[in-house]
Formats: sequence, structure tokens, C-alpha cells
Amino acid sequence: MRTFTEDPPRLPGTRPGGTRTEREASQRVQQMFSRIAPRYDFLNHLLSFSLDRLWRRRVARLFRRTLRRTDARILDLCCGTGDLTFALERVRVHELRDATAHRTPLFGSDFAQPMLDRAHQKALAHGRSAIFTTADALHLPFADSNFDLITTAFGFRNLVNYEAGLREFARVLRPGGELAILEFSEPGVGLTAGLFKFYFKQILPRVGAAISGSKEAYSYLPGSVSKFPTSAELAAMMKKVGFTDITIARWNFGSVLLHTATLLAAKL
Ligand SMILES: C[S@@+](CC[C@H](N)C(=O)[O-])C[C@H]1O[C@@H](n2cnc3c(N)ncnc32)[C@H](O)[C@@H]1O
Repeated sequence: MRTFTEDPPRLPGTRPGGTRTEREASQRVQQMFSRIAPRYDFLNHLLSFSLDRLWRRRVARLFRRTLRRTDARILDLCCGTGDLTFALERVRVHELRDATAHRTPLFGSDFAQPMLDRAHQKALAHGRSAIFTTADALHLPFADSNFDLITTAFGFRNLVNYEAGLREFARVLRPGGELAILEFSEPGVGLTAGLFKFYFKQILPRVGAAISGSKEAYSYLPGSVSKFPTSAELAAMMKKVGFTDITIARWNFGSVLLHTATLLAAKL
């Protein structure tokens, strides 16, 4: 029997704008990101004061050892316009010290075609070799045990079923493969955290709506962050589906979290 002190049951995944089923929620997320694609990069850099570039670069550098291996197969999920994919590629080229060295291409995938179109354009403009594919992160078109590293930046929170997402990542990762999830989080307590919350909930949605023309997308952002599982809950889910060595790094006063994990040598 539920008592009044119990927290309401957490949703299995995101449900933007009162959507009720996974199917409805998934369509809404896809439409939202497709709509804001033309202004997405500009707004990302503006609203984060360009810190988003730094966060992605930090993630890429953490995986230097894997990136150095020319045969490493790497997938950046919910890649959007490709900024983390390109950050990974830049670190890889730097680590190999030869831009022309033969290496397995990096893969980026997303289900919002207009976001991927921009990723393609950027790859062409900057001579990047990453391969971008349209795919739902919950139903990936890749064979089992295919990748050495999966990354995702600010995408995981938008999945309509977090546990199913983690299971799908585990399926396409090889045993011993690595996972990195970069996500926003509600910062803790204190003055700076309070100021950040005010900015995130009051200023960012208004500026985002005015520039992108989508009120929904930029009010969805703080709303979805506040409903996202806590780091302990996410870590428990990762463990449940077979990840181990889970680490959590807190950046920017706890407003950005990086979860990393390794898939157990024997799959569950
Ligand atoms: C906030 S953007 C992040 C984009 C990019 N990773 C970055 O760092 O800027 C979230 C992305 O997740 C994608 N996404 C959300 N749910 C998805 C799903 N189920 N399958 C594939 N992509 C998804 C959206 O289309 C969007 O491009």
C-alpha cells in the first residue's frame, strides 16, 4: 500500500508534453529535435557559454587509449549534429599523430534526420570521415558485440525507456566494451547551484524559445532534467543490465554528469 511519504513512481523514460505511450513520446522527441535542428548548434554554444564544447572534448580525451587503437569501433549515439563524434575524431587523429593513418571510421547515429543532415554537412565542410546513420537508439541496426566504445551526449535523457536503451547498448557492445553517458543533472544546493537553477529554468527556456521558435523544446529541457533518474538510480540500472566499474564525474557545479562503465566480460 502506498503512503503519502512515498515518491511517485519514476517513469521508465521521457514523456514530453503529457505524451502517454512510448510511441507517442518517441515521435514527439523526434519532431522536436527535427524542428530545432537549424538553430541547434548556435543555441547550444550560446546557452552554455560554449562550455558544451569543453565538456565533449573532456569526454573524448578520457577515451584516448581506446581512440588510439586504429581498429577500435566507436559509436556516438543520439549524435545530433555530430559535435561529440567530431570531438572523438579530432582526439583520435591527434593521438595517432597522422591524419591520413588508416583507421576504422567512427559511427554517429540519431533518429532526427534534420540533425543528421547538419552532421553530414559539417563532416563534408571539415573533411571528417565519420559515418552517420539514421537509427533509433532503442533498436540499433548493428550486430551484437560490434563496438568497443559507445558514447552519448545529452541524448540518453530523451530515450523513452532508459533500461531498454541500456540493454540495447549492452547488446551492441563487445564484452569489456566501454560506455560513456554525458547528461545534464539538477545541481545540488548552495548559491551557485541556485543561480544555475534560476538560469536553467527561467532564462534558458525563454532565450531558446525566442531564437529557435520552439517554446516546447526549450521548456522540455529543464523539465526532462528534473524527471531524469538520479545518478544512483542510473548506476543501478547500468549494473542491472551488465555494466561494471561505474564511475560518475560531476562537472559545472553538478549540472553535468558523466557516467562511464564497462560491460562485463561475460554478457548477462
Ligand atoms: C540534445 S540532442 C544531443 C545531440 C548531440 N549528442 C550533442 O551533443 O549535441 C539529443 C539528440 O538525441 C536524439 N535522440 C533522442 N532520442 C533518440 C532515439 N531514441 N534514437 C536516436 N536518437 C535519439 C535527438 O534526435 C537529438 O538529436
